[in-house]
Amino acid sequence: MANIHLKKQWALSEGEATPEAVYRNRRAFLKTMGVATIGTAGLAYGWEAQARSRSDLERIIRGSRPLGAARNSTYKVDRPITNELVAARYNNFYEFSTAKDDVWELVEKFKTSPWKLEVSGLVEKPQTFDVDDLIKKMPLQERVYRFRCVEAWSMVVPWTGFPLKALLDRVRPLSSAKFVRFTTFFDPEVAPRQRKRLAFWTREPWPYTEGLRMDEAMNELTLLTVGMYGHVLPKQHGAPLRLITPWKYGYKSIKSIVKIELTDKQPATFWNTLAPSEYGFLSNVNPKVPHPRWSQARERVIGTRERQPTLLYNGYAQQVAGMYPKG
Ligand code: MTE
Repeated sequence: MANIHLKKQWALSEGEATPEAVYRNRRAFLKTMGVATIGTAGLAYGWEAQARSRSDLERIIRGSRPLGAARNSTYKVDRPITNELVAARYNNFYEFSTAKDDVWELVEKFKTSPWKLEVSGLVEKPQTFDVDDLIKKMPLQERVYRFRCVEAWSMVVPWTGFPLKALLDRVRPLSSAKFVRFTTFFDPEVAPRQRKRLAFWTREPWPYTEGLRMDEAMNELTLLTVGMYGHVLPKQHGAPLRLITPWKYGYKSIKSIVKIELTDKQPATFWNTLAPSEYGFLSNVNPKVPHPRWSQARERVIGTRERQPTLLYNGYAQQVAGMYPKG
């Protein structure tokens, strides 16, 4: 998707995209290549660096606070769950980087607790929640969902969270509310790419925003997510709180949310503002509708060499097709 380096075109075509195995090994590869001229001692250093970064990542994951939520067996998938370490170093979090494999390191200084979440707009009882409190109060459940990025890669993840509906019910939406707008934190000190908001040649509309229609927000699949693989969300995946809408392309799953507002107008979103012809508002997964520059018929399963056919609504037609016109 979105390649922030590009001058005119925003997105990197799927065909041009670096294969995932190359992505994953690129840092180690570069380190290795960088010292190759120095000789075999240098090569050994490269491999050591790779092993060290792997063990750092493992340590971060192992140190994440467990949530212990029971799995809701209604939501299962006929594909294996993605290896956690593969998912943990394959991230899109453009506030920090346009590469995937360095986000987990670049988020080190990002502070995700304490964290406030404002829920406001067209509601009877606007409220600001402390997210640590919310995690204690809301009944958490684990759901295994497919996840499909618009870039044509996919994974399967056990997410922990609660339906967005449960939170919206607490603030009592007014009948005039037709859309929900989500906003990510804005702090260019810790998220260096947010500084580009002021650069006229990029016009990146930070902070990242996303939106849903009200019926989509209230759908049983729409999960406000506070954890994955049984523990709190690692920062690179959008701690402390992100959205997961598994029938939509991954860019709708906004990370590190600070504000949820109910509105009567369709909100502007980050990607739709930057490249409206490439990234729509609804963004439902559909193998028959190609991205303007690549096919969406198949997907690359990260951490494997497999390619799978992409399913309509990412396999969730039963739960969501009724919300959209047929055909
Ligand atoms: N949320 C914010 N705030 N910033 C982002 O850059 N990237 C989106 C989405 N949410 C993004 C975001 C995209 S393009 C994808 S595919 C998913 O996060 C990736 O989620 P993951 O890194 O947990 O796999």
